[in-house]
Amino acid sequence: MAAGSVLQTLREIAPTVSAGVLAADLMHLARDLALLETTDVRLLHFDVMDGCFCPAMTAGPPLIKAVKTPLVKDVHLMIADPLAKLEDYVGAGADIITVHLESCPTHIHQVFQMLGRMENANDPARGIVRGLALNPETPVQAVVPLLDEIEMVVLLAINPGWGGQKFLQSTRTRIEKARRMSRESGREIIIGVDGGVTRDNIAEIAAMKPDLVVAGSAIFDGKAPAENARYILGALKGG
Ligand code: DX5
Ligand code: ZN
Repeated sequence: MAAGSVLQTLREIAPTVSAGVLAADLMHLARDLALLETTDVRLLHFDVMDGCFCPAMTAGPPLIKAVKTPLVKDVHLMIADPLAKLEDYVGAGADIITVHLESCPTHIHQVFQMLGRMENANDPARGIVRGLALNPETPVQAVVPLLDEIEMVVLLAINPGWGGQKFLQSTRTRIEKARRMSRESGREIIIGVDGGVTRDNIAEIAAMKPDLVVAGSAIFDGKAPAENARYILGALKGG
């Protein structure tokens, strides 16, 4: 089953924030997650990089599994050949799995079909939300043939591979295009933005009306993750 309570929650709480673990201090992750859990942020974003699709390498299924949290596990796969590895990420407890169009030139439709048949390892009723990520240079039009097999589109506002990059202004029209395509398809596709979110630009990004915003370094700055999360979420909701 593809859709379930996680999708329902996402639609209910949109616009919302997914906190990017990549920027977190792993030596203090438990402490910082406990702080984050006191806020209204409900999603934790894991950036998975394999050194092939992305030059950098981060963490894989063991870390995703090891993190004990009530937060929704939002897994962003920046890896080569994701089809062969889906089971590992589902087994690790992913609630949302986002795959890059550019990471599988030949079988991305099959990736989403397979995900659609898989059960959420935490609880089958949660379902697995299927996200399609697009690099900044990939035309948004590329989502159209896949709209029946996805619940979410994630527009990268930076180049995948590193946190702390500058938000690309072209993202504004890309969000508008994705919104139009979602409406025309009659499917309520969640539109997410990932990368380059800061305290300084969050109000501007909020005006672009995404449903989901990933914020890594803006939340995990080594000082005040809960306060940062409240600020980003408040600004996104127009506060
Ligand atoms: C980049 C990742 C992003 C990134 C966001 O490849 O997909 O999730 O970590 O980091 P910030 O919010 O610091 O730009
Ligand atoms: Zn990401």
